[in-house]
Amino acid sequence: MFTPHQACRACGFGFRGPGGIKAGTPDNLTEVFDLGLQPLANDFVPDGAERSGYAPLKVMHCPRCTLAQLSVTVRPDILYRHYNYVTSSSETMKHHFERLADDLRLLMGGHTGTVIEVGSNDGLLLQFLSSKGFGNVCGIDPAENLAHVANTEKGVQTINGLFDVKTAAEAKSMVGTLDAIVARHVFCHVDSWEQFLNAALSVCDDHTVLCIEVPYCKDMLEKVEFDTIYHEHTSYMTIRAMKILAERMAFKLVKVIRYQIHGGALLLVLAPERSLRPVDPSVKEFLDAEEITLDTWKEFSAKAKKQIATLRSFVQTARQNGKRVAGFGASAKSTVWINACGFTRKDLETVYDNTSLKWWKLSPGTDIPVTPEGGLYVDSPDYLICFAWNFAQEIMEKPLVKKWMAEGGKFVVPVPELKVYPAP
Ligand code: TYD
Ligand code: ZN
Repeated sequence: MFTPHQACRACGFGFRGPGGIKAGTPDNLTEVFDLGLQPLANDFVPDGAERSGYAPLKVMHCPRCTLAQLSVTVRPDILYRHYNYVTSSSETMKHHFERLADDLRLLMGGHTGTVIEVGSNDGLLLQFLSSKGFGNVCGIDPAENLAHVANTEKGVQTINGLFDVKTAAEAKSMVGTLDAIVARHVFCHVDSWEQFLNAALSVCDDHTVLCIEVPYCKDMLEKVEFDTIYHEHTSYMTIRAMKILAERMAFKLVKVIRYQIHGGALLLVLAPERSLRPVDPSVKEFLDAEEITLDTWKEFSAKAKKQIATLRSFVQTARQNGKRVAGFGASAKSTVWINACGFTRKDLETVYDNTSLKWWKLSPGTDIPVTPEGGLYVDSPDYLICFAWNFAQEIMEKPLVKKWMAEGGKFVVPVPELKVYPAP
């Protein structure tokens, strides 16, 4: 189901040559965070269906380039076979897309050029970019169901497959001259960055930018977002690591933009090494402000364990007082929380979610069912634990949640530290 991964994906530190003989530097990556064996975060399956199983969830830190990555790589066909993730078409997301469209336009010298999106999901972003006047767009996504939706319902031409030299060439033939390749929240899911970057380079014109949006490891550490650590996220990106990686792979890092989405993200803009595009001062500025050491990880690990203990005891106390508790947002993050806290249906009655693909399935590793948001109207639990904290504000403003809160419901956001709304 999984294979150990010992060498740093970005800089190669800890690489072992053939037969396990170490080549280059003899050192190993350092273990910095361990949640033990955990279920796969998006393995939502109906009651009675076979589950994918458990794999170690352990983070290793590279002392050379500061990249963090999991100690194992779960086989992608297992990891993504029950993939129910659909990009949230929320207000928060729309706002982010506006911002991204502006940044792309700037990178294209004020034009709305052509775009290939890697991991285009159901075509939401490309549809948005088209509506903003961007030229030809083409998506590439490995999920057959989502590529189908993009092609038939959203009118976004989408190639069903993994991003490689072949699908890249196919996409390029559809858009013509290529202004940007966009990869939102896919890069840190990818096992072989060499393959990914080679495929990208094979279709880059001199002026093409490769825009990689990733969760920022620094934000995750500072805000103790430990619940974004799960098997799909094989790496936790730093700017230092990306710069070294880009330079190893005939690219250069030309610009860094920070976003607030998903708890803190980076847009890392790469250009082919040969391009004349100058390096923006943002690269140095953000690099200078990035200091991630073993101590940073130690502090994070201690705080994360404390957060887990806090939510566990909060829910236990509520249950002992006869209160009914449920979750909101069957995110991958919810799986990490629920399993780290050891919750079962006795603790959380259900997790509400608006993704129909997840309804009536069980939260991975537990017997807690996922039910449609609307259920909140009838069930009226006393507490809701928000596992989609990246959308907390928006969720609290939903008429359904507002009404439930007006009737006495309490909304609990566990990150960065547990907060109850309205305050008791
Ligand atoms: P998200 O944070 O996008 O992803 P991840 O799985 O990577 O942690 O997940 C948010 C979940 O919350 C998603 O399953 C959709 C759900 N959701 C609702 O049910 N209602 C809402 O109003 C919003 C904004 C999200
Ligand atoms: Zn490294």
